Amino acid sequence: MKLCYLDPPFNTRGAHSTRGLYRDHRTTRGWADLMGEVLQSVHSLLREDGSLWLHVDANELGTARVLCDELFGADNSAGIITWERTRRPAYVHGQMSSVTDFVLVYAKDRRKLPPLTEGFTRRGTRTPLAHRGNRVVELAFPPGTVRFNCGDGTYTAGDHSSPGIDAHLTKDVTVSGGRNTTWLHMTLPSRYSAAKVNQLISDGAEFLIPKVPFRISYIAPGGRPKLVTNLWSWQFGGMETNEDAARQQQELFPGRPFTSAKPEGLLRRILDLASEPGDVVLDCFAGSGTTVAVAQKLGRRWIAVEENRQTMEGYLLPRMSSLLENGSEIEVRADVHL
Ligand SMILES: C[S@@+](CC[C@H](N)C(=O)[O-])C[C@H]1O[C@@H](n2cnc3c(N)ncnc32)[C@H](O)[C@@H]1O
Repeated sequence: MKLCYLDPPFNTRGAHSTRGLYRDHRTTRGWADLMGEVLQSVHSLLREDGSLWLHVDANELGTARVLCDELFGADNSAGIITWERTRRPAYVHGQMSSVTDFVLVYAKDRRKLPPLTEGFTRRGTRTPLAHRGNRVVELAFPPGTVRFNCGDGTYTAGDHSSPGIDAHLTKDVTVSGGRNTTWLHMTLPSRYSAAKVNQLISDGAEFLIPKVPFRISYIAPGGRPKLVTNLWSWQFGGMETNEDAARQQQELFPGRPFTSAKPEGLLRRILDLASEPGDVVLDCFAGSGTTVAVAQKLGRRWIAVEENRQTMEGYLLPRMSSLLENGSEIEVRADVHL
């Protein structure tokens, strides 16, 4: 099993309507007992490079964290995602309007879980080499490696300090055609060691000095895989919300949506990040089957567990049957022991 997504009852104790299809009134102890058992089975089923994605709201966030730390090991926590679940905050109850849920991500073994990346870094991001408070080192840039936007000519050795940054050009440097034609030697409190800068130079990195006094920056080449952030928001990134889930449910089950379904976009992002085509994905609280529907669409193999027969027959099975290719069948088993 490469990936397990769990969207259990949040223990809202009646705060949200669930059409009476499942129970959401437990003591915290009762919730912990249920989840402890499920998480233990999931842990034993996961591959060494697999991961658990546990979706909760604030009600049992603390309990979930303690349980996962105990069963997976705190060292195997890969992070907690804050998902902005609604575009429509309710302003009438309590002291604050809650618009977020959380997804706790745990690796079976964090050393074996590949970095969770999406997209690539952009070319041209500037990182100033001088960093206040760092050790002052001497850096040397071969001819042609530094771009100058401050004009051609010879710049004489001297002070290039500015408040908090003690920097010096230690030898004259000549610039022609916007690049150094002689070695550039500078001392500055550098973000990177001289060895790291030499490595960047031999990897073909580019540096830029925009003006006098010299503030040299490293220009990122771009094209490196970018780690996903832990803020998944419709406002910053166009993430789908519960309103999208409601629309999707209305299309799937006109007039009788499954009310606590998650949007397909949320699951697509999770599956894209942490599984590959052909991998097995598990959802032990399958509900209307959003996880496994997305798994099927993305070419993953899948297992869904759902305790409520009405939900399975009225939502999960019809949704999955409509996605299967001719000739494929869903194997349904009662009494599953993970
Ligand atoms: C929040 S819903 C999941 C919704 C789902 N993510 C979707 O998008 O449709 C939780 C589901 O877990 C099921 N459930 C609750 N306790 C369970 C248990 N012990 N074993 C299996 N399913 C359970 C409920 O019947 C309900 O369908």
